[in-house]
Formats: sequence, structure tokens, C-alpha cells
Amino acid sequence: MTTTKQKPDWAGEDWQSRLVNLLINTKPIYAVMKRQARRVMIKTAQKKGIPWSAQVQALDTPGIRALADRLTNSTVRYPDYYQVPFHAYAQGNLCWLAAFEAAPATYAVAARLWPQESLTPDASHARMRGGFLRILDEYGPGEVRDILDIGCSVGISTLTIHRHFAEGQHQPVRTTGLDLSPYMLAVAKTRDTKDEITAWLHAPAEDTGLPPESFDLITLQFVAHELPRDAALDIFHEAHRMLRPGGTIALVDSDPKSPALQSLPPVLFTLMKSTEPWSDDYYTFDVARGLEQAGFQAPVTAPSDPRHRAIVARKGS
Ligand SMILES: C[S@@+](CC[C@H](N)C(=O)[O-])C[C@H]1O[C@@H](n2cnc3c(N)ncnc32)[C@H](O)[C@@H]1O
Repeated sequence: MTTTKQKPDWAGEDWQSRLVNLLINTKPIYAVMKRQARRVMIKTAQKKGIPWSAQVQALDTPGIRALADRLTNSTVRYPDYYQVPFHAYAQGNLCWLAAFEAAPATYAVAARLWPQESLTPDASHARMRGGFLRILDEYGPGEVRDILDIGCSVGISTLTIHRHFAEGQHQPVRTTGLDLSPYMLAVAKTRDTKDEITAWLHAPAEDTGLPPESFDLITLQFVAHELPRDAALDIFHEAHRMLRPGGTIALVDSDPKSPALQSLPPVLFTLMKSTEPWSDDYYTFDVARGLEQAGFQAPVTAPSDPRHRAIVARKGS
């Protein structure tokens, strides 16, 4: 009889995981890994037809720096967990390179999902987003007026979720993208060429300053794996406060039960872990239970593609 493993052996307290963590915590080895992880990411992306360097160069303008200044809320205090190296950037999400590379990196994630099919970068990305939207259509809200996309990064998830609802219903939709990185927000605003998004907000998701009961749908798309468990729980509580009665929270992120992730070759999972400081916390966290702890009801979990799962839950009416 085969049993489904709850998480990959390379995450949590297993010996394999502890060995990888030991390597990552050995500074000279970590420096090499970080460089290697970055090289592998860019090389694989370019091989799949993602114009990495061209996209980065196109964004690097003087105007975008002024935009970041305008979007920055100078009262924001960054939590400690946010100020550690992430994704091979020493300043994590708080630097221009992370923001300029976020879009090609997102497409690179999608491009790895269906290795047996020769999909274009646009097609694999649309399919990745489509998997989440399909689950949201099945278990999420019907009509919505106000959407909040937490951890919006450079706005790809925000524009996708906004258009999905704006195009499919009669009433207008107002959508807000929220992120802790003003660099990401400046790129998001630049990508939002038709001003479809109501606001790009610089704030911590655990204390947004937004009014209570003001949204029908709150999404966290590929955000939870960047959070220590306590921060995720604080954010779930804050989301519960901001949702109207009957409102929906929906997450999509790595699926610890995914056979594709559980069978990653050691080199790949070691490189991946070296760029994701909170992955042990994430892969051992019962997210559905965390949502219930924050007051949400009836969480539904379903795979959205070979490596990711969606979790949808409701605030009681
Ligand atoms: C991987 S990116 C999200 C990608 C994006 N949602 C998408 O689907 O394309 C994670 C984002 O979460 C943001 N983030 C992490 N912790 C946060 C927090 N406490 N408050 C607000 N944003 C946060 C990061 O700055 C980063 O831009």
C-alpha cells in the first residue's frame, strides 16, 4: 500500500532536511549555492524563451525610482523575517533587482510545471493562473465588489484576479494590490498601464490599516511560503477582520503533498531551499488549520497544477 507523504523529506526535521540546512547555514557554501541557484534560474528561463535580460533592462528607468518614492509609506516598519536574504538577493524583496526580475522569475516557475509539453512561457503562465482561478470559481465567491491581493509583488497576480472578476460579472470591481516592497509596487504600477487597479498599497499584511469588513475576496498568491508561521497566522487574522461577512480568502502556493516536489533531485531542492528562508516553516504548516484558527470556515484544499495547491475558505455570515 502506498501512503501519501504529507511533505517532502527535504523540509522540516528529517535528516535530509537538517543536512541541507547545515549546508545552507555554512556561509561559504551558502554563497556558492546562492550564485548557483541564480544562475540555474536565469539559464533555465532563457532556454524556455523567457527574455530575462531584456525585461530587466526595459524596467530600469529613472521614472520608476521616483514612482517608488511616491508609493513608499515612510511609517512602515519591516518585520525582521522580511529583512533576510531571499531568492538569492542579499536585501530580499527590498531591492530593485528583485523587483525587475520578479516577472521573468514568475514565468520561470510556470515554465517548469509541464516539462513534457512544449508550452510557450505565456501559455504555461496562463495555465498556472488558470488552475487557481478554476478552483476559485468552484469554491469561491460569486459576484465580488472589492478584492485585495496580499503580497501582490509586481502586480501580475493582481491584474489576473481583477480581470477574471471584472470581465465575468455585471457590477464593477475595485481591486487593491498590497505589498511590503515599494520596489515591487513601483514595477506593479508601471505594469498597470490602463490604471485598472484602484490602489497599490505599501503596508505590512499583518497590519494593513485598511477598514474592517471592506473586501469580498482576499488572495495570497505564492506568498505563504515566504512567511514564518506566526506571520502567516497574523495575516490570516487581519484578512478575517478585513473581509465582509461571507467573504472569501483564497491562497495558492507550493503543495507539500505534490509528488513532483517530493521527488525533486537533491541538487535542485538544496538550491531551492537556499533561496527560501522560511520553507521549513511553510512545508510543515497546516495552512487550512491555521485559517480555521483565524476564524475561517470550511477550508477546501485542491491541487491547482502539478506543484501547487489552492486553499479557499469563508468568513461566516
Ligand atoms: C512570491 S511574491 C508574490 C507573487 C505574486 N502574488 C504573484 O502571484 O505573482 C511574494 C510577495 O509577498 C510580499 N510579502 C511578503 N511578506 C509580506 C508581508 N508581511 N506584507 C506584505 N507583503 C509581503 C513580498 O514583498 C513579495 O512581493
